[in-house]
Amino acid sequence: MTDKIEKLMGSTIQHGPHNNRIYLLKLHPKDLPVIIPTLDELASANNYGKILAKIPETFASFFIDAGYLREAFIPGFFNNGQGMLFLSKFITPERFKEKNFEQMRRIEALISQPLSETGVTDHRLTHRVRKCVPHDAVEMSRLFRQVFKTYPFPIFEPSYLIHQMATHSHYFYIRHEGRIVAVAAAETDSGNQGVEMTDFAVLPSWRGQGCGLALLVKMEDAMRKLPKHIAFTIARTRSIGINKLFKSQKYTYAGLLTNNTNIAGGIESMTVWYRNLEN
Ligand SMILES: CC(C)(COP(=O)(O)OP(=O)(O)OC[C@H]1O[C@@H](n2cnc3c(N)ncnc32)[C@H](O)[C@@H]1OP(=O)(O)O)[C@@H](O)C(=O)NCCC(=O)NCCS
Repeated sequence: MTDKIEKLMGSTIQHGPHNNRIYLLKLHPKDLPVIIPTLDELASANNYGKILAKIPETFASFFIDAGYLREAFIPGFFNNGQGMLFLSKFITPERFKEKNFEQMRRIEALISQPLSETGVTDHRLTHRVRKCVPHDAVEMSRLFRQVFKTYPFPIFEPSYLIHQMATHSHYFYIRHEGRIVAVAAAETDSGNQGVEMTDFAVLPSWRGQGCGLALLVKMEDAMRKLPKHIAFTIARTRSIGINKLFKSQKYTYAGLLTNNTNIAGGIESMTVWYRNLEN
């Protein structure tokens, strides 16, 4: 089960009971300010716990005035130099309550650690990273199903992966003895220079051997050529490995999306990290 992606007026949203939220993925500026009460009505009709809006900073006041909180910020995301804000409205107090204190403590320690102490081993030369093609979709979806119990987007369906590859996602894999052991994606969005590094999945027996790092480095190189300059990720707080990986690659912590995403079996808070690939 995943939540549907659809148009709301001229904007694009994802919503449903799986993540129990509305995610305003792409705001059409013409929809302001009417879209704000429309989102409230949709949330109320479905008893959703959270509305997350990803918007250019110039429109922040419309949302802040309507009770949204600033959760994360990525400077220079849009082609005109504007930053991107993640603003959220928590409908229920329960949804705002962080439950995962031990993991948060580990993440906070990682964020404040000097970069030199992160100490990720560079294994990238030992892995050959290749670009996925539609023919790989069935095997990719199988790997995603093995790695994640649940996921916020329908990556378990080969047709979704083929659609993503045909439109705006660049998937990469590592194979060992003919079998895909690791996958990740660079998801672009026309009209801005941002790219989301996402869908990282490494088979359990291959973890901690540099597959994640090799995929990230390869995707960064590919994105520089497009050119896409601002890379970001939305990472699980329960996976210290994925946060460590981005920190080690000089990503800056951009904020925390509290109780945001249904991933790996339940709703989890997510960290946001970004990096200007030119630096
Ligand atoms: C997160 C994930 C993609 C990382 O991939 P990976 O190939 O294991 O990462 P790398 O080997 O390149 O590791 C990068 C660093 O993080 C560390 N690391 C990886 N997993 C770790 C873990 N569970 N706990 C602590 N450190 C971890 C590695 O040790 C390495 O540092 P080192 O070289 O100093 O040892 C992989 O663990 C995975 O598939 N997890 C399950 C799916 C998931 O949660 N994906 C992320 C969704 S946001």
